[in-house]
Amino acid sequence: MKTCETVAAMRSLRRSWTGTVALVPTMGALHAGHMTLMAEARRRADHVAASIFVNPTQFGDPRDLEAYPRTLDADRAMLEGAGVEALFLPSVGEMYPEGDETIVETTRLAALFHGAVRPGHFRGVATVVTKLLNIVRPDVALFGEKDYQQLAVIRRMVRDLHLPVGIVGVPTLRETDGLALSSRNVRLSPDARQAATVLSRALDRAEALAGAGATVEEMRAMIRETLAQEPRATLKGLDIVDAERFTPSSAT
Ligand code: PAJ
Repeated sequence: MKTCETVAAMRSLRRSWTGTVALVPTMGALHAGHMTLMAEARRRADHVAASIFVNPTQFGDPRDLEAYPRTLDADRAMLEGAGVEALFLPSVGEMYPEGDETIVETTRLAALFHGAVRPGHFRGVATVVTKLLNIVRPDVALFGEKDYQQLAVIRRMVRDLHLPVGIVGVPTLRETDGLALSSRNVRLSPDARQAATVLSRALDRAEALAGAGATVEEMRAMIRETLAQEPRATLKGLDIVDAERFTPSSAT
């Protein structure tokens, strides 16, 4: 696997490739969830590039950025094992040139739901993903459904800006007890790790209700009730929306 630390090096490696190219953007601290994206990328393209860049503009809280796990040696070994051909590993200065003033924003989608809890987050994501797509110029780029609103923001941005890339969404990989694999899980205490399973339990129950023809209100009540059973969980927001447009679900 070749490592490119500059835009110029990544571009020149990209130019040497013939055939199709897939890009998997990440912030490192890789786990099996990221690896399902790498495996799908290999199935879809002749060459696979992954990027590791802990993007400062998508973190609201500097302490969260500071505390973000960094495990570069282990990440490299996992990428090698997954058959990734190139690792793009830029510095902050390389990605955000001195005096930069250009941003990319999905104005409606970025303000909703997760975006309302983390103002500026999706602007940071859209901006950095646009840069990565412009640097690597892949035929396809892969993103996890775990970050479902992020996937929707990226699909909308690619469509609106006519970016020449196909966006592939990959299903969420979960632990056997239902918790979605996430780099931040290593920061959970054993207690909190146990409590976090309440999220997938609430979703599973709501899904079962939906299958049985329940109303949106009944599903909402079931989720609230399930979360209330876990004293360590605090509900910050709960929305049931149309999967594509992110408008409130009109299902009854
Ligand atoms: P990061 O959190 O490192 O995630 C990289 C990709 O892996 C994302 O597309 C995410 O949805 C996917 N992913 C994470 N956990 C997963 C799981 N359990 N199952 C399936 N896919 C999973 O998301 C980001 O980085 C950043 O916002 C980024 C897009 C790289 C822009 O900075």
